[in-house]
Amino acid sequence: MFASVALVLVAVLLFLLLFQTHRAKNFPPGPRPIPIFGNLLHLNLKNPIADLEKLAKRYGNVYSLFIGSSPVVVINGLQAVKEALVNKGADFSGRSQNLMLNHAVQVKGMILADYSPGWKEHRRFGLMTLRNFGLGKKSMEQRILGEIHRIINHLDQNVGKTMNPHLLFHKATSNIICQVLFARQFDYDSEIINFFVDYFYETSRILNGPWAMIYDSIPMVRSLPLPFQKAFKMFRMAHKKYSGFLAENKKTRVPGEPRHFIDCYLDELDKRGDDGSSFSEDQLCAFVLELHFGGTDTTANSLLTAFLYLMNYPQIQGMSSFHLLQEIDKVLHGKDQASFEDRHQMPYMQAVIHEIQRVADIAPLSVFHCTTKDTDLMGYSIPRGTVIIPNLSSVLFEEGQWKSPHVFDPENFLNEKQEFVKPEAFMPFSTGQRMCLGEGLARMELFLIVVTLLRKFTFIWPEDAGEPDFTLVYGTTQTPKPYRMTIQRRGTA
Ligand code: HEM
Ligand SMILES: *[C@@H]1O[C@H](CO)[C@@H](O)[C@H](O)[C@H]1NC(C)=O
Repeated sequence: MFASVALVLVAVLLFLLLFQTHRAKNFPPGPRPIPIFGNLLHLNLKNPIADLEKLAKRYGNVYSLFIGSSPVVVINGLQAVKEALVNKGADFSGRSQNLMLNHAVQVKGMILADYSPGWKEHRRFGLMTLRNFGLGKKSMEQRILGEIHRIINHLDQNVGKTMNPHLLFHKATSNIICQVLFARQFDYDSEIINFFVDYFYETSRILNGPWAMIYDSIPMVRSLPLPFQKAFKMFRMAHKKYSGFLAENKKTRVPGEPRHFIDCYLDELDKRGDDGSSFSEDQLCAFVLELHFGGTDTTANSLLTAFLYLMNYPQIQGMSSFHLLQEIDKVLHGKDQASFEDRHQMPYMQAVIHEIQRVADIAPLSVFHCTTKDTDLMGYSIPRGTVIIPNLSSVLFEEGQWKSPHVFDPENFLNEKQEFVKPEAFMPFSTGQRMCLGEGLARMELFLIVVTLLRKFTFIWPEDAGEPDFTLVYGTTQTPKPYRMTIQRRGTA
């Protein structure tokens, strides 16, 4: 008797769970979920790419998956991504508040804030401030060039040697954002910069890994002492560091004379007083954390991809008909450093950098979005609160959008007259209202760093390094496999 009652109970429970994970009418198609786990067991959690590719092939450009009992919709290809993020931007620009990333960062700055007046105010403020005029006397370009000197010094010490550039680029891009945020640069072997680089690396590793998927799928395990707790702890430690900078900074601040992002924000806070706006010191700390976090690995990994390709396609470094080095030498003639304006005279350099960003495929699935209301896409109905995954790689490598979608070829960004052109499908920074806030800064960094270093040094793939491996290590932000490079000084510089 007891056994059969228990059986009925279990059956009812299963039915309820199944019901819960059922696709609503006209919802995008996808594989059948299992209670509690959703489609977790359909995926190889270490590297789900191959499995997901099969699903996209089978179910089309708009398909759905279950993370635990919550449905997510994956969007592939330019047409569907544009339709959602641009044409229906207001419907598709929310952020889910129920994923590990949000819980880890706790206070929402802006990357993870939902589509709301507070997010809009912060986005507008951020864009204004990151433009040159927002940061006081010292321009963004000067801040970047200051850091480039440090990179050059470091490379100078390694001339004739072979080194792994991994930490170098992470430290440099971290320092550039610190320059912008609170006008500080740290020595490459200081404790604090090593803390930052470590914390970005560790937290990203955890957030990208199987434990994060389990966290997102199965809420009951969230408070258990599992590896994801380490990410939470590191974010708390980082938050403390930023509060420290903020407090230190207030001692020397002169209202109305901002020296950097934090000062600008404090001025804005003074101006707003208690107008009920979303600006607060807590928000500032979260914003600073997100800008630092969002701007370091992304840009550093793009640089790692850049030098991996530059070394292995020597015709790009200058031995071919394209004359990349001739272009650099011509434009920089008589100057000891590049300026961002120079890009207009360097169509080939522009094409090379854009092609590098395309193959670097830094944020393959963007940052997840969420619908803000019941809406529809390509004929499917999608209810409010559905997690949306814009598949940026599917656009960056889409057949029909590129001259050569599957190989590295700067011609993807050159027209018949060898002028630089940017196809619509170029969206490593995503598109629409949520598009990367740091695009301007990132593009300036990539241009100035690559041009200046190519002007001063030659980078050579070491003879004993074997065949280069261009496959990326999968993650929320992807990175090339570790490699080494041999550094030589260039004769002309
Ligand atoms: C090559 C370097 C970079 C790449 C490839 C990149 C890519 C992205 C992508 C794909 C998104 C998600 C957009 C979306 O949700 O649709 C994003 C958002 C964002 N990025 Fe970047 N990023 C880069 C550098 C930076 C830098 C340097 C900063 C900081 C100064 C930054 C700050 C942000 C912020 C604040 C957001 C959130 C925007 C919002 O939610 O409204 N990023 N980025
Ligand atoms: C995104 O698109 C790429 C390229 O088409 C594919 O390999 C990958 O599996 C897709 N990811 C998802 C989540 O559909």
